[in-house]
Amino acid sequence: MDLYKLRADTPGTKNVIHFNNAGASLMPAPVYKAVTKYLRDEYMFGGYETADKYNNELSEFYSNAAMLIHAKTDEIAFMENATSAWDAVFYSIPFRKGDRILTSNIEYASNFIAFLQMKKRVGVIVNIIESLPTGEIDPAALETELKKENVKLVSITHMPTNGGIVNPAEEVGKLAEKYNAIYLLDACQSAGQYPLDVNKIRCQFLTVTGRKYLRGPRGTGFLYVNQQQLKTLEPFTLDLHSAEWKQKESYEIRNDAKRFEKWEAGLAGKYGLSVAIQYLLDLGIESVWVRVQYLAKIMRNTLQSIPGIEVLDRGKIKSGIVTFRSGRISAEKIKKRLREKAINTSVAVRCHTLIDMEERQIDTALRASIHYYNTEEEIEIFSKTLMSLLK
Ligand SMILES: Cc1ncc(COP(=O)(O)O)c(C=O)c1O
Repeated sequence: MDLYKLRADTPGTKNVIHFNNAGASLMPAPVYKAVTKYLRDEYMFGGYETADKYNNELSEFYSNAAMLIHAKTDEIAFMENATSAWDAVFYSIPFRKGDRILTSNIEYASNFIAFLQMKKRVGVIVNIIESLPTGEIDPAALETELKKENVKLVSITHMPTNGGIVNPAEEVGKLAEKYNAIYLLDACQSAGQYPLDVNKIRCQFLTVTGRKYLRGPRGTGFLYVNQQQLKTLEPFTLDLHSAEWKQKESYEIRNDAKRFEKWEAGLAGKYGLSVAIQYLLDLGIESVWVRVQYLAKIMRNTLQSIPGIEVLDRGKIKSGIVTFRSGRISAEKIKKRLREKAINTSVAVRCHTLIDMEERQIDTALRASIHYYNTEEEIEIFSKTLMSLLK
């Protein structure tokens, strides 16, 4: 990786040490340029006319997203965020009373709240599969539950918002397929740092956001829908883009993943996300993952050597999401003080991953999430600053 070029492409690195990539990464220049150029054209020539002008670029979004996860172009829908993508699928599944949803203890709050709402509405049963001592979902425990009746959905988070765990998405996929369960994977934190291949994961649905590890603009994301599901799953909501009004009493739903989209969208953002994915494809996701793990390891080792700091991450393999706490100063306070020194981190709060945080008795943790464009030097400055704050 040409780090010099990558950082020159990321002017934000001159202003801040950015360890909030799990919140929103710094965009690279080509993304910023694409979005502002598109917006300027809307400003100068009109929104619909600009969409016509950028027709090819906007179509490329689908092939770029498909290439990133080894899907087919018609299996991709552009969405405004990962939650909209996830909800579009989840609320379309025809759950009945007694249907079981299998999930893990690191599930993201928005997903779990939807499970609870479906429980209240129709009486689904939510089972949290046991995890291994290292924190990942236990495949043997998952198989035991899959063998029982009425499993409708396996829905897990690949990488949680609050730590380094990487759930074994492929093993889960093999099991879900073996027992004929629908498999929905929340890849919100993994897309952009980890190589995703839907053929290996064998999920029917996968949800992604643009602003995190993909380095796209805010308000963007995408949904992957396996071709088989496109034939069977009817979206819970439709409009004149997802379906065509054929006659007074009839309509026809389109047969690609765009059936989950709405007609109106932030097209500057869509173009920006496409450019962000292209940027990543050019860089190579395999080398991104190697570098993220390398830097995160240095970060964890450095933190571990600071007296009074407890690194909280578990996981056989660990992602770029590093979490820790101080016994003396609150995470919120440390975050604020670091921000004053132009170091960006964030705070993982209990209610965003409630089950896991309660099990580990953690109320808040400081999150320093690494991306490939970060450096060893930044980690050193960060740790020195942290040590001076703790004095
Ligand atoms: C694991 C996980 N899933 C889903 C989401 C929601 O993503 P979005 O804010 O794009 O809807 C997040 C956001 O932090 C997340 O960390």
